[in-house]
Amino acid sequence: MPHSIKKAVIPVAGWGTRGLPFTKEVPKEMIPILDIPAIHFVVEEAIHSGIEQIIFVTARGKSALEDYFDDSPYLIEILRKKGKHEQADFLQKIGKMCEIISVRQKEPKGLGHAILAAKNVVGNEPFGVCLADEIFPSWDPRNKSLPPLKQLTEISKSTGLSSIGVMEIDPKDSSSYGMIRMETPKFRGIYEKVLGTVEKPTPEKSPSNYAVVGRYVFQPEIMAALSEVKPGFGGEIQLTDAMDSLCSNKGLLAVDLKNERYDVGNLFQFLKAQIDFALKKPELSDKLKSYLSDRK
Ligand code: G1P
Repeated sequence: MPHSIKKAVIPVAGWGTRGLPFTKEVPKEMIPILDIPAIHFVVEEAIHSGIEQIIFVTARGKSALEDYFDDSPYLIEILRKKGKHEQADFLQKIGKMCEIISVRQKEPKGLGHAILAAKNVVGNEPFGVCLADEIFPSWDPRNKSLPPLKQLTEISKSTGLSSIGVMEIDPKDSSSYGMIRMETPKFRGIYEKVLGTVEKPTPEKSPSNYAVVGRYVFQPEIMAALSEVKPGFGGEIQLTDAMDSLCSNKGLLAVDLKNERYDVGNLFQFLKAQIDFALKKPELSDKLKSYLSDRK
């Protein structure tokens, strides 16, 4: 009987150079979409996918992330005294969202190195990985797609294999992603076997148009694979290199995600997220539409 997947690792140690100067003093994962930090959406997606324990792989200067998910009794009390019960309830909910455990990545040696830092906390069970600069708002009940991580946990539970979320991208963007190699150029069903990966190839060298987006479910053997990985692209310990060793052993599945996705480390996608989220809020939508239509 395959294990249920209750833990998710969220690497948050990165410096967020794409977000400078904002990220000079504030963790990039705290960047807000309207009034909610990006990390909130990522943790919420994990919870909606059945995750009970979040493992932050963190670093110096990132404590705002742990504080965000802490209880805030004084603030809640002040809000209640002022009769602001809705806000107080929301803060109370944040403080109880899930158990957060932090481990440190002491040197910035790459995504694979960050995941390996969580080895002892993860233990010998399958686990999810969510990259926090990508948000998928489709967990919203108004939207029909399951949260990306939930799609992966279901496939990994039924097959006993590791699975990764991928999306078809514009081929000219391949050098921003890990790109996968499959048996066919297109998906024939919901998932395909991954034959291998190439980290950030030029379009000419990309093995397909499918990019690894920031959601993964790994069987515990990924940790042994990671500990064998030598520095790869950019001199870093790459997660994709460890994934390659899964491909040549038990196997790795790619799941074709159809969800809406925003890479909030990309300025234009960050702006699109602000607009799309505002358009979904009844109290902002009409005002925003009329403001934009009045502008030349
Ligand atoms: C990382 C991974 C890459 C993946 C990407 C998804 O790259 O190394 O394989 O496609 O996340 O966002 P990064 O964006 O951290 O450079």
